[in-house]
Order: sequence, then C-alpha cells, then structure tokens
Amino acid sequence: ARTRHYKWEVKYELKSPDCYKKPTITINGRSPGPTIEAQQGDTVVVELKNSLVTENVAIHWHGIRQIGTPWFDGTEGVTQCPIIAGDTFIYRFDVDRPGTYLYHAHYGMQRESGLYGFIRVSLPNGVLEPYSYDYDRSILLTDWYHKSAAEHTAGLTSDSFVWVGEPQSILLHGRGRFNCSGIASEQCNQTSTECSSPHTLIVVPGKTYRLRIGSLTSLAALSFEIEGHNMTVVETDGHNVEPFVVQNLFIYSGETYSVLVTANQDPSRNYWTNVKVVSRNSSTPNGLGIFNYYPNHPRKQPPTIPSTGPAWDDVAPRLAQSRAIKARQGYIHTPPPLTDRLIVMLNTQNKVNNFVRWSVNNVSFNLPHTPYLISLKHNMLHVFDQTPPPNGYDFKTYDIFNQSENKNATTSNSIYRLNFNTTVDIVLQNANTMNFNNSETHPWHLHGHDFWVIGYGTGKFDMFKDPANYNLVDPIMKNTVPVHPYGWTALRFRADNPGVWAFHCHIESHFLMGMGVVFEEGIEQVGELPNSIMGCGDSKRFLKP
Ligand code: C2O
Ligand code: CU
Repeated sequence: ARTRHYKWEVKYELKSPDCYKKPTITINGRSPGPTIEAQQGDTVVVELKNSLVTENVAIHWHGIRQIGTPWFDGTEGVTQCPIIAGDTFIYRFDVDRPGTYLYHAHYGMQRESGLYGFIRVSLPNGVLEPYSYDYDRSILLTDWYHKSAAEHTAGLTSDSFVWVGEPQSILLHGRGRFNCSGIASEQCNQTSTECSSPHTLIVVPGKTYRLRIGSLTSLAALSFEIEGHNMTVVETDGHNVEPFVVQNLFIYSGETYSVLVTANQDPSRNYWTNVKVVSRNSSTPNGLGIFNYYPNHPRKQPPTIPSTGPAWDDVAPRLAQSRAIKARQGYIHTPPPLTDRLIVMLNTQNKVNNFVRWSVNNVSFNLPHTPYLISLKHNMLHVFDQTPPPNGYDFKTYDIFNQSENKNATTSNSIYRLNFNTTVDIVLQNANTMNFNNSETHPWHLHGHDFWVIGYGTGKFDMFKDPANYNLVDPIMKNTVPVHPYGWTALRFRADNPGVWAFHCHIESHFLMGMGVVFEEGIEQVGELPNSIMGCGDSKRFLKP
C-alpha cells in the first residue's frame, strides 16, 4: 500500500461555470476539485490550507468509512471543529474498498459554492472488475445557483423565511450554460472556457466506456441520459450491481454509479448528454453536454432537439429503478437475518416558532457548538441534550398523506446511542409536506458505514407486515438512498465502527433546516483524538500540550 499525498489550497475565486460570474470555492483554482486517485489499501493524506480569508471549512470524504480514524470524517460539529481561516489541516485516512466515492465541504452551505470532487479507488494489482471496458471516465453532476450560500443561509434561517428556489443551472463536471441575455454584461463571462465550450465526452466508435457518474447537487434529483445509447449499471456507492440496462439513470445527491456505455451508434454525428431535474416542478433548464464521436468536431451540435426527459412527477419509474438495484452475483454480502433495533424515522416539514424546518419524528436537528466526538469521548455530557430522540412516531394516528394538523416540532441536538456490534434497522417514512398534495424525495446518507437496502414501499410502513417482504437474499449495499414521495425505505447496518456518525438528508438546505440525526457507537473504543480537530467550544481544554 502506498501513501497518496495531496496539497490543496481552498480559496474563493470568481468563476463562471455557466457563464454567470460568481465567487466559487475552488481547490487549487478548480471546481470541481482534483480527483483523488488511490488503490485499495492506500492511505490518503490531504494537506488542506484554508485560504477562504473570512470563512472556516471542513471536508467530508463521502463513502469512506474512516475505520479507525473517525476524527477525519470531516463533519463539522460532529467529528471536528471547523478549520479556521488561514489554518492548515491534515486529513489522513485509509481507503479500504475499491469504487467511486466523493468529497465535499461539510460546513454550513459551502458545498453549493463548488467545494467538491471525486475519489476513485482502484482494485489491487492483478484483481479485475467483474466487467470489462476500454476507458474509464467520470462526470460529477451538480446544480448551480447565482445567489451566494450566505444569502441562502440567511433566507432559510430568518423568520421571514426565504426558500432557495430552483437552481439556475445544472453543471456537468463544472460546465453549464445560462442564458445571459437580459443580464448586465459584466455579470456574464461568455468567453470563459466553461461558458464557451459545453461538457464533452470524446468516444471512439466501437469502444466501451465505464462512466462514473456522481451527484452532489444541493437540491435537485436528476435523470441522466445519453441520446440513443443504453447504459448498463454495474456499480453504485462502491458496490457491484447485478447488471441492468437503462435508457436514463435516476441519480440523487450523494450517490455514485458506474455505467457501461458502448459507442455503437452512427459515428458520423454527435449525441446529447442530457441531465434533467425530476421530483420537483423545476424551472431549471436541462444540463446539456456533447457525447462526441471521434473524429467529429467536439463542438459539432447533434442534429436533434434534446429530449425533454422523463416527467418530473412520475414516481413509478424512479421507484422501479431503485428496486432494480441488487448486489451482483458472486459479490453478495449477506445481511444479518434479524435486527436488534428498529428506528422508524418519520420525515416531516414543520414550523418551529415561526421558522420552517424539517424534522425526524417531530424533532428538528441542530448541531452543538462542541463536536460530539470530542464531548462523548471526554464525557462532557452538558454540551448537548441527553434525552434520547424518539424511536418512532404515532403510527396509529399520523396521516402521511395529508398536511399535518400539528405543524409544530421541537429542535434538539440529542443523538441516538447504538449498542456496539448490534444490527440496526432504519425505516425512513416519507409524508406530505406543509403544502397540499406534495411529498418530496429525500436522499439519506450515512457516514461511517455502508448499509443494506432491504426494502422500498409505498404508503405507510407497517412494522408487523412489511418486514416479511424484505430482501435479505441479495440486497445492494450503499451509503446513500432515496426515500420516494409518500413512500418508505428500509435499511439495515451493523453498528461496528467506533465513532460518531451523521445520518442526514443530502439536500444541503434540508440538513441545515434540521433533517438529520447522529449515531454514536463504541465511543469507548475510539483512540486518542488528534489535537487538530479540537479548539472550538468546550473542546479547548482537551488540547494536549
Ligand atoms: Cu455527503 Cu454528511 O454528506
Ligand atoms: Cu430532504
């Protein structure tokens, strides 16, 4: 195993990924940042200099379990104090599984300002994937706003609530196109590389491509397609998928997929890569790129009108695709047959005082000022609420299909404490929002673990009947999973990674509005915490000389 060293400077720069000029958080001048390339078993070291001048930062390594290094998970308020402006922080962790992962800011709403990228972990020498391809490419999908994260945060946390609204653009690996007509010319940089050339995937006729697709949207659920080409899904979140073919791939924030695409269409022309927002009645135009058959000119427009894509409000094909994802034969990790604990998590939109919030079982989450990992390890129980959050909701009376009669929720920073080495089931239960006839899609992400996705259902989860239909034979393991409108999703995981781990909706504004929880397991087995994660709140006094 090798050590892979990265030296990053995180800094605001004026960028125009969709032509519109905006202060963007870059790594070494780029957004998306550099791809971390490593081999299974390697150690990754990222030396991060915070040059944001007036902002702190923290970076999460999304999908990396941080076994033995829970303090380098990069989750501000949970596993570390933020990295102060001007400081340098060193992350050091092992990548123990091959596959496609992500990294992104995990502090306030900095992710949507452009601080993100890929982590690609290859197999050990001599070990092959169970599928073959000629070339390996990646494309990160994000949504892009013209307003700043500071303005969004202020709107979301004011009692004169201002919702972030729909993004202005969809970016394909940092490239989009916004229609600048009607906008002051100094606001648009139409000569920037990003603006003047769309995202291009150059393909050689007859060759097969492994295309790694990741989504780190702040809000949007997406449908990705390549005009006229089928895609075979083979990997998700670092796990091999029993192959299945799709014309369009639904992808939610925090997920990664590898698909195989063969350039087997008429080579005399180019094709559209087309990314559409689904699940919301969005005004965001489709993100368009060019699937460029070599040697056609990369900017030669396809002769067709890009397809409008699937209907935004059609849940059935999205649920069907979620259900189609199974572990690949020969790569199945069998889940434990029984669980030790079931937590049902009702997802609702609420009001707390006059603020609009999201809640789990009527509790809306707030981060404490002193990170949990530090306070728990040092037994400082006064720094957060010790009452355990609820294990369920009022199943008999709560009507998930209608607006709640009681909109009020409470805020808390209490956490779920799991018994070490036990099996835990989580059922995410969706419901109607505060708007009439509306239920949203929420992609939930678990830090520090992969979980088995053992069931999806529509309507209200019945803890007596539904577990009989769980898939315990070949469920996929993932780290991020959607809960569909008015539906439920069941997960199972082993609480076997000592540390403190966030589990939250990956929609950045939803997490800020309280849609998350935290799990603690095996805290007594966590080793000595590094000084570098400390310094904020009550953690100062544990700094070692
Ligand atoms: Cu990718 Cu806690 O997030
Ligand atoms: Cu959400």
